[in-house]
Amino acid sequence: MTTMLPPLTSIPAEIVAVQDYVPYAYERMSTQAWAYFSGGAADEQLIRRNEAGSPYRIWPRVLNDLSHASTQLHLLGQTYAFPIFLAPVAYQKLAHAEGELAAALGAAAMQTPFVISMQASQTIEAIAQHAPGPQWLQWYWQPDEAATELLLQRAVAAGVQAIVLTVDAPVNGIRNTEQRAQFALPDQVAAVNLKGMQIITPPVVGAGQSPLFGTGYLATRPTWHEVAHFIKQSPLPVFLKGILHPLDAEQAVQVGAAGIVVSNHGGRVLDAAPTAWEVLPLIAQAVDQRIPILMDGGIRRGTDVFAALALGAQAVLIGRPYVYALAAAGAAGVAHVLHILRAEFEVAMALAGCAQLADIKRSNLMPMD
Ligand code: FNR
Ligand code: LAC
Repeated sequence: MTTMLPPLTSIPAEIVAVQDYVPYAYERMSTQAWAYFSGGAADEQLIRRNEAGSPYRIWPRVLNDLSHASTQLHLLGQTYAFPIFLAPVAYQKLAHAEGELAAALGAAAMQTPFVISMQASQTIEAIAQHAPGPQWLQWYWQPDEAATELLLQRAVAAGVQAIVLTVDAPVNGIRNTEQRAQFALPDQVAAVNLKGMQIITPPVVGAGQSPLFGTGYLATRPTWHEVAHFIKQSPLPVFLKGILHPLDAEQAVQVGAAGIVVSNHGGRVLDAAPTAWEVLPLIAQAVDQRIPILMDGGIRRGTDVFAALALGAQAVLIGRPYVYALAAAGAAGVAHVLHILRAEFEVAMALAGCAQLADIKRSNLMPMD
């Protein structure tokens, strides 16, 4: 058990980059919470590949006119100041006493979207009331239609702008780090938005039985048919999160998704999966600008944001970086991480000679092999 320090009340001058928050977060989390947030699937090779960043160099251009440069993003009828959003991360009270309230406040201070996890430990309503900024809601498809309808109504009433339907985790990944730490939720942390809702969880089966196949569990998991129905039923635009294959990207367009999030879930589901860096060019080609593409996984520098946009994304999301800042310094830490990334991204744009997001093209990257 690590000795847990209280959150910082001011930001130390030596925190100048996103990853500088990591040791401060580590000292402020229980061993179990650390395993939950930092861990991933199996040997966690994918986390390392995500965090290695894009396999390209940014190719500097000089002497372009940048006098009217801006990071402004237009997405589905909304305007955002810069293309860096906060990804859905469950159970944020494990990182900070106020959890999602503080994270959403940090995002609101920077006027960038906070994607509320379906397994948030604060209610949608409390978050909306606390933080006057854009909010989206992440959702895992549920067979209970009435409960789904109710949740969507609550989201609309709370001013949520979009739904992010996560499709990449029909079953839990093999999470050895969590298993070794014997991770379990403490009593005071729960998925409060799902109270009273019947959520189907994977069955616990005895030795000698098939752990997954033949249990009937997979028959409760959605297919494209259910997702198409969900999208039709939703009063809000629906992004599909967790797309890694160009053929699935095409399906997403066909079922009417408002956009997709190219993501491997922060390396938490399938350790052998590709990185978003690897598949983004193929997916951008398949989508051919019919719907917007977001991406996440391993964004740690403004240059990563630039590379993602050059490879065809409209915006990126960050997960662990803001959770670590939340654990270290609450809402101020979250706002600070966004500020750092935005500043780095502006510098990357300026040095690549790009005045607008639309100027960031594949030709701004130099292939390395
Ligand atoms: C996640 N992620 C996630 N995704 C989702 O759709 N719903 C969720 O509830 C969660 N919960 C969650 C918890 C924790 C601890 C982590 C680290 C991640 C995935 C998340 O939205 C995002 O895809 C990744 O975190 C992005 O990778 P980075 O930025 O953490 O490298
Ligand atoms: C996770 C789930 C909640 O990654 O999506 O922990």
